[in-house]
Formats: sequence, structure tokens, C-alpha cells
Amino acid sequence: MNASQKAHGATIGVIERYREHLPVTAATPIVSLSEGSTPLIYSSRLSALVGRGCRVYLKHEGSNPTGSFKDRGMTVAVSKAAESGARLVVCASTGNTSAAAAAYAARAGIQCAVLLPAGKIATGKLAQAFVYGAVVIALDGNFDQCLKLVRELSTEPGISVVNSINPYRLEGQKTAAFEIIDALGDAPHLHLLPVGNAGNTTAYWRGYVEYHKLNRATRRPRMLGFEAAGAAPIYYGRVIEHPETAASAIRIGNPASWNLANAAFQESGGAIDIVTDEEIFAAQRWLASNEGLFVEPASAAAVAGLFRCRTPAACAICPVPKIPDDAVVVCTLTGHGLKDTAAVLNDDRAKPIAAPADKAAILSILEKAK
Ligand code: F0G
Repeated sequence: MNASQKAHGATIGVIERYREHLPVTAATPIVSLSEGSTPLIYSSRLSALVGRGCRVYLKHEGSNPTGSFKDRGMTVAVSKAAESGARLVVCASTGNTSAAAAAYAARAGIQCAVLLPAGKIATGKLAQAFVYGAVVIALDGNFDQCLKLVRELSTEPGISVVNSINPYRLEGQKTAAFEIIDALGDAPHLHLLPVGNAGNTTAYWRGYVEYHKLNRATRRPRMLGFEAAGAAPIYYGRVIEHPETAASAIRIGNPASWNLANAAFQESGGAIDIVTDEEIFAAQRWLASNEGLFVEPASAAAVAGLFRCRTPAACAICPVPKIPDDAVVVCTLTGHGLKDTAAVLNDDRAKPIAAPADKAAILSILEKAK
């Protein structure tokens, strides 16, 4: 435990909250930003849309210190890197992992380098990597090529790779499942997630399985994952050489945790499905304008999936019709909308209405907007 964590009244992070379930010892210097303990928000509107007495909750991971779920895994990975005496942490990223790695490395006093696909990172995430002091390297290639290079760097002495191929990342991320069970008193019946590198699906499933084994839950949820239609290697069962989606966080064609996530879908009685960019953006707008929750595009994929699955045309593999009446459903909202404002502002509808400083003009505009 470091000095700031010992400070009286400081909010605890996921390592302190779930220490006995995590691979840390008294010798591990805890690098934390008081991550985790994120809101689990009940959505009466989504509950009504699913119907049959089901209750839908949203796990708002954008509330983490760097604005995404990555902080849960990064506190463990960087703490372990510090313990091992690493001099550099490095990662490939579509943006959020790099933001989290850079922040936790800064806190640990370790240098950080991030490998990003050039021109494909949302500006908020890029700003984070810079301001936290990382060496930002833009590669003329996609995320999968960045990750391949990082794997090659991992054999160098003193370098710790903090992508989810580092087992400590998934260990930290499983705490989100613990929090949900602790909040609800049991596991949900169904859990929906966006899928990119497939680490988060794997981590949630691990958390649910572990808590179930410890009798902290009476059941394990069906896991339902959603890839973007143009970047859906698991759904199609083949590597996608040139993945394409406007949801840049999940623009991945060869996920690192492919097999583990597939096992999660199968063991849980769940499924992997796809959502189009159009469905993703519709869900993003829906969440913001109906629930007051601004998430980045990739983060809306689970809710886009829920919308798709409740339609009569839902595919045969979809477990939504298989869940019981009065079921509990959780969707994870993985990252904050402010990371990618261009995704909203590029829309023609996102234009302010010009007006003179005149009360009557304002009232007239408000009348038309009704
Ligand atoms: N949502 C957001 C906002 C993400 O940033 C990511 C992944 C995912 C969902 C998918 O999670 O990879 O565990 O299946 N972002 C990684 C990154 C790839 O580099 O920030 P996953």
C-alpha cells in the first residue's frame, strides 16, 4: 500500500476492495486511482422495452478515473509491473488502454510507451496519452499490427506489456462482475457487452464463475457479446484483415482473447452477435437523450444489441427469449462519451441555433423546437 492509499478517508480502489481475490501480496506496491465501485444504474425505459417484468441495469464504467473500464485491469497490471521493477510499460491500443496505461504509469513513476494505429484514435484518448506523459507512437497499421509488435517487445528486459495478454489485466477487470453481484445480491441472468479484443468478456465471466464457486451468487449469467459488423472476427469465425467500424475502440480483426471469450459464450449458454454502426450510433443517442448517459460509440454496442435482440426478427442464437420472466439484465457501458466528441459533432444535427441576444427571438426558437 502506498502513502496516498493510507491517507485517512481516501476512497479505496479495486485492489483494496477485492484484495483476497487478486494476485497481490504485502510486497506489491499498490498503484491506484481509486478506480472501480462504478454506478449500477437502473433503467426503467430499457426494462419496459424488454418487458416480461425484466429489470435492466447499466454498469457505467465511464465513471472510472480515466473514463473507461481499463482502469480496473491497469491498477493490477501496473502494480505488478512496479513490483517486478519494470522500467517501461508498453501497450498497443485503440485508445482507452493507452490512456489508462499512461495514467497509472505516471502515478507509479514508470515510463510508458503506447503504440497506436495512426489517425484512428479518438482525440480525447490521444490527449490523455499525451498529458499523462506517455511516449506516443503512431504506427502505419491497424491495432492488430500494433499488438503483434508489442508481443515482440515483451521479450526485452525491463519492459512490461500491459495489454490484456498480461494476465493481471483480466484479474483486475473481473472485479466489475464482483461489484454487480455485491450490488444486486446475486448474478444477473444475462450480461451484455461490446467485444473488441475480447478481454473484458473473458474477465467478467471469470468474475462470475469465481463468485459463484464461493457461493456469493446462486447463478451465472448468460454472456452476450456484440462486435461491430465490420470488425467481427469471432462472429464470422475468421481473422478480419481490414476491420472497419466508426466505433474505433472495437476496430479489431484478430482479438487476443478470442478463444477465452468463445469459451465464455459457450459455457454460459450465451452468444456472440453483431451490430451495425447505424445501430451503435442510434443506441448512443438513445442512451444520452433518454437516460442522460453519454457513452462513446463502442460502449453503446451492448445496448444496441439489446434493442436488436428484443425485436421479433432476433436471431435464433439470441438468449434474450430464453431468459425467464422477471430476469435481471446488465449491460456494460465501457467508456465515457467525452473521449470521442467528434463522433457526435460530425452529425449534421449537432449544430447550435444562431440567435440574437433578444428574448422574443429565443422564445420563438423554443416554440419551434417543441
Ligand atoms: N469498449 C471500449 C470503450 C473499449 O475501449 C474496448 C477496448 C472495448 C469496449 C472492448 O473490450 O477489448 O476487452 O473486448 N479497447 C481496447 C483499447 C482494445 O485498446 O483500448 P475488449
